[in-house]
Amino acid sequence: MVFIDACFKKETKHTPIWMMRQAGRYLPEYRATRAKAKDFIDFCRNPELATEATLQPIDILDVDAAILFSDILVIPLEMGMNLEFIEKKGPVFHDPVSTMADLERLSKTPQDNLGYVYEAVSKIRKSLPADKALIGFAGSPWTLATYMVEGAGSKTFEKIKKEVYKNPAFMKALLSMLADSVKKYLVNQIDAGANAVQVFDSWGGALEEDKFFEFSWQYMLEISDYIKKERPGIPVILFSKGIGTYMDKISGNFDVFGVDWGTPMKLAKEKVFDRYALQGNLEPSRLYDRNEMLKGAEELLDLFKGENGHIFNLGHGMIPDLPAENAKELVSFVHSYTKKRS
Ligand code: CP3
Repeated sequence: MVFIDACFKKETKHTPIWMMRQAGRYLPEYRATRAKAKDFIDFCRNPELATEATLQPIDILDVDAAILFSDILVIPLEMGMNLEFIEKKGPVFHDPVSTMADLERLSKTPQDNLGYVYEAVSKIRKSLPADKALIGFAGSPWTLATYMVEGAGSKTFEKIKKEVYKNPAFMKALLSMLADSVKKYLVNQIDAGANAVQVFDSWGGALEEDKFFEFSWQYMLEISDYIKKERPGIPVILFSKGIGTYMDKISGNFDVFGVDWGTPMKLAKEKVFDRYALQGNLEPSRLYDRNEMLKGAEELLDLFKGENGHIFNLGHGMIPDLPAENAKELVSFVHSYTKKRS
């Protein structure tokens, strides 16, 4: 598989591409699938619908990898938390956690209640062409904790940061509990058929440098160490958003470093490309304009000319109103621009 080879910095016939949040509302086909479910949680719990949504970007865009359709928040959901996805507002937990007693009432084994995800993974792998990879994923402990403590998405992270500084023992109990479940959850996804796994740390950049390594990165490494020990042949991708200025201290046992759009790829290449494959990082908003998109893609690809180990991706997720035809053209451009004549 082109995508898997690139994760291990092997030579490939073209640069592989997939897009974070490639299954989503910008595709009319996704909206039709979603309409068949009662609500978003029901959608995530339905392996047939999840399979349908996962395969759409493969059929429509011809990306090199499918990413499992699910959500990072199924872990706290299956810990027993009261989650609701509210239209135009996003996810809300009606029972946020803030004390050790709150943690006591959460299940320590949510991975055992996620059979519907493993079933979807196995169905998807069976339906995918052999040369297309299937990426499993989970949220990082820190990013999951932001939703569990704040009770919803946040711009300022006031509640959880107060815990970081005033109540680190509570934070570490929560983060350890999450890391333990996430690592087992990802191994189960691999055993069901996932060819690679990515840990999404969307809110790592909310933390200052020391606290980022202490409260987020450390737990991501605990997860990757476990996977590399248990399932060594499977590439592990770590993606933390907003930590480009902390790259001097990035190290650990994983394969691919995901670069967000706020980090200049040239800098990421200087700091970590000697040790890791790089994934990223076209600013998603460039897809609003065809010329800006193609110009940005060309510059990014020129940076890696003649080298192995670049996986083309956006620097964060697809936006619901981006034109699907541009996403489609981006994939064919990346393939034709990097195609090796042999
Ligand atoms: O990448 C993919 O195509 C796979 C599916 C996927 C979804 N969520 C589906 C989804 C993945 C990998 C995620 C990860 C996720 N979920 C993250 C980390 C990635 C990132 O973007 O930083 C986060 C922070 C979440 C939590 C979450 N789920 C939020 C904040 C929202 C609301 C955002 C919105 O656009 O409304 C969701 C809902 C969600 N997850 C949607 C999709 C397609 C939209 C729901 C809908 O159909 O209305």
